[in-house]
Amino acid sequence: MLKAITGTKDILPTEMQKWNCLEKLVKEIFTSFNYKEIRTPIFEETALFARSIGEETDIVGKEMYTFLDKGQTSLTLKPEMTASVVRAFIEHSLSKHQPLNKLFYISPMFRQEKPQAGRLRQFHQFGGEALGSTSPLLDAEIIIIVYKILFKLGLKDLAVKLNSLGIPSSRENYKNLLRDFLNNSKDKLSQDSRKRLDQNILRIFDSKLESDQEILKDAPFLIDFIDEESKADFEIVKTLLNQSNIPFEIDPKLVRGLDYYTKTTFEIVSGKVGSQSALCGGGRYDLLVEQLGGEPTPGVGFAAGMERILLACENEKVLDLPHEKINLYIVKIDKNLSEKVFELAINLRDNYQIPLKENEKYQNGVISLNIPFKVEFDYLDRSVKSQMRVANNLNTNFVLFVGGEEYNTGKVILKNMSTGEQFPIAIEKCKDEIYNQFLSSYSDP
Ligand code: HAM
Repeated sequence: MLKAITGTKDILPTEMQKWNCLEKLVKEIFTSFNYKEIRTPIFEETALFARSIGEETDIVGKEMYTFLDKGQTSLTLKPEMTASVVRAFIEHSLSKHQPLNKLFYISPMFRQEKPQAGRLRQFHQFGGEALGSTSPLLDAEIIIIVYKILFKLGLKDLAVKLNSLGIPSSRENYKNLLRDFLNNSKDKLSQDSRKRLDQNILRIFDSKLESDQEILKDAPFLIDFIDEESKADFEIVKTLLNQSNIPFEIDPKLVRGLDYYTKTTFEIVSGKVGSQSALCGGGRYDLLVEQLGGEPTPGVGFAAGMERILLACENEKVLDLPHEKINLYIVKIDKNLSEKVFELAINLRDNYQIPLKENEKYQNGVISLNIPFKVEFDYLDRSVKSQMRVANNLNTNFVLFVGGEEYNTGKVILKNMSTGEQFPIAIEKCKDEIYNQFLSSYSDP
């Protein structure tokens, strides 16, 4: 039997309600901060990721899905969005239209990691990138946005971890200090960490091994050596988070797995999802645009793993949504009325949309958020009794009986399933009648 590729996951209809709810919330919150959505292709030239994320990182070194196309160009399925957003920002000269671009995205990503709970090879991220300002207000803003999304979902077991990596020149002196320190215990370091000593020394802090962490306990921390400007910005970020009542802790070991960061970095971890605990991560990358060939433009952003967030929701028993309802089920009493029932269903679906309350209507910059009037009927020629069973299982608001004696006098019977009331209505007027009945009983779509 053919199966989905290891590390990929089908999102089945039963799970879609939660995904849609999360995506709606993400769009709402980003829109309230005036971020605009951006979509970029699934694949890019490999060089884009190698140059931005860094040749020595795990993502570029081990995890990318890279292949040659028929023209022998090396392409890579995007492992993250920041590089793609920056590429699009430069290519379309977005800074010409406005000095500050606040962008958000929801997209699948691809990394060939070892699959486990919360770690997939195709996963989904939502995220935001603000390009064009060094202001620490934006560092705080992106942390507030993602915290707000997680908070609104109802998640409680969260910890915001914050660090500053300073600017690269302040990092160089520190790296020498750290190297001197670690060289003293070089023999005790794991093989991976010893390799990193020369290639990417800061990433040694990422080691999961207790023996490495024991050595790092007394290591000097970068945050104590960063430049004055980074320090001052970091103070502002902390003040703004305090003002917004966002609890955080300083984690001097938070170096992040991508090379483009400068100054503020952060992660939000959950205590409810096992070892892959980071729900999101991000930070400032003031040199990346220039590094990829654009005019020097500072940037800051984050990305959050949607599968991990939904796993945290499941484990914290939040985002427990009510069963989806349908609005009308048409029960066919006479088998020969199939075509009439089909026609009625088409018309009702066409013409009826639940008008939202005025204050819900134009929220989020989406022109119409009308919820479709959901109509279903029987395609399988089932008995009236079993059609009723289906109607009950579908949790319908109303049932419309078509056929029998009333039908011969030009009428159909409408039954309100929550009150049990039923009454005949004229077929020609049935659309208006059903609509009025539905609206007067409508409270929760
Ligand atoms: P990242 O830390 O590599 O950062 O990924 C962000 C989030 O994506 C992680 O915290 C995690 O929730 C999720 N994630 C990563 N890998 C996987 C995986 N294999 N399976 C499931 N979820 C995963 C970035 O991607 C940066 N682009 C963030 C950023 C944006 N920095 C600045 N702007």
